Amino acid sequence: MMDFANPPSDPVPACEAWFREAADLTSLPNPNAMTVATAGADGRPSARILLLKGFDARGAVFYTNSESRKGLELAMNPRASLLFHWDELERQIRIEGAVTHVDEAESDAYFATRSRESQLGAWASQQSRPCPSREDFKQAYADMELRFEGGDVPRPPHWYGYRVALETVEFWQGRDARLHDRVLYRAGPEGWDIQPLYP
Ligand SMILES: Cc1cc2nc3c(=O)[nH]c(=O)nc-3n(C[C@H](O)[C@H](O)[C@H](O)COP(=O)(O)O)c2cc1C
Repeated sequence: MMDFANPPSDPVPACEAWFREAADLTSLPNPNAMTVATAGADGRPSARILLLKGFDARGAVFYTNSESRKGLELAMNPRASLLFHWDELERQIRIEGAVTHVDEAESDAYFATRSRESQLGAWASQQSRPCPSREDFKQAYADMELRFEGGDVPRPPHWYGYRVALETVEFWQGRDARLHDRVLYRAGPEGWDIQPLYP
């Protein structure tokens, strides 16, 4: 249990503990699901659910198609806000920061762990573009099955990881009588600035 009266000096292990507890203590099929908000040049926010696939002091990692709506928005404006919510634990974590590309070797390594179906899907789906019919999508998938028949499916060049730097990390814990706990960490040159907030 995180001690909000005496918050830990580093939010990274605290996040890791909450991610672990979300996996161990809830019945959620995707405890690593998070809302990812981006905004392009027009400043209009967009949000969607993605899975967290890596986390350490360098940031939080997700994988997607760089030609998707979020990919295009991140190309224009490489910043994101991530939000985890675990209702059963009355917890949320919000992370905000600059976004960079995960390097090729790391993206290749993760892509190789995915099922062949997911790998072929990454080639077949023109994510976020108009899909004329389900038949077109099925045909594109069948084309990719044929193209890569008898061999490994390589990572598509437009599919890779994005890492959101931990510029701010905020923990929220529901408490009795609405006296919820909330603490904001801000990364600074001297380390973490720690600021409790009213809920
Ligand atoms: C539980 C769940 C997990 C998902 N995980 C991913 C993911 O890791 N990567 C991804 O590209 N899309 C994932 N999606 C689909 C996205 O929510 C979204 O529809 C897609 O990435 C296109 O988003 P965009 O048009 O805003 O770019 C997931 C959806 C759900 C419901």
